[in-house]
Amino acid sequence: MPFFAILTLFPEALEPYVGSGILRVAREKGQLDLQLIDFRDFTRDRHRTVDDRPFGGGPGMLLKPEPIAECIEWLERKHGAFHKIALCPSGKPFGQSRAEELRSLERVLLLCGRYEGFDTRLLEHFGFEELSIGDFVLAGGELPALCIVESVARLLPGVLNDERSALEDSFGESGVLDHPHYTRPRVFRGTEVPEVLLSGDHARIQRWREARARERTRERRPDLLEARDGEQPHKPSNKTRADTTNEH
Ligand SMILES: C[S@@+](CC[C@H](N)C(=O)[O-])C[C@H]1O[C@@H](n2cnc3c(N)ncnc32)[C@H](O)[C@@H]1O
Repeated sequence: MPFFAILTLFPEALEPYVGSGILRVAREKGQLDLQLIDFRDFTRDRHRTVDDRPFGGGPGMLLKPEPIAECIEWLERKHGAFHKIALCPSGKPFGQSRAEELRSLERVLLLCGRYEGFDTRLLEHFGFEELSIGDFVLAGGELPALCIVESVARLLPGVLNDERSALEDSFGESGVLDHPHYTRPRVFRGTEVPEVLLSGDHARIQRWREARARERTRERRPDLLEARDGEQPHKPSNKTRADTTNEH
């Protein structure tokens, strides 16, 4: 069972989330162990200081390395070595393929930054992998840490009701985006469910879904097709959706 330790200054903000939904299910089923650790508890001064001004000047504060280092050392003495990930907007982009790799690691530590982030020496000293969840800047690493843990948790056996879901999702087995979905009612505000989905012809439905997924990927994420097939990026055409919905 993978063990995730999240090092944060705001464990109370994460507690309700990790105690509900998929993360609760994964923990209750014994598929995931998760611990929230407040690295402020490893400060040694009266004011429990975790930040300081950056050398060289500039705006904002940085996280001091010592409390985090002591927290990591305490954790590793207790449980053994962890694969260490620091959440950083300047890190490598996190994606589904990394989630798949992380699920087979025994112990993973996720370090949540605040303020202007970390003293680089801390990350170098402990050999951190630096990961970003996207090209935008949040106030802290807590949401990115939850994104990573949840994306791994839903890949663990027995966590999803139907394990095919994870394979058929966007970025799953096919490597492309998911196809559009429809449920009852058959007519919603004047728009009908595509006839093929009511046909009961599973082979035809499958072909329709694959075509829609490919079309959507070409429009929204041509880079995924390129990566998968070496396909050239799609040039916008005048072809409308109506022209393409008969593709079987
Ligand atoms: C305000 S940000 C620091 C930004 C940093 N000075 C920079 O420009 O790269 C504070 C913390 O939020 C987290 N964070 C913000 N955006 C993130 C992202 N896109 N991916 C991962 N972590 C992020 C990191 O832990 C970071 O240390």
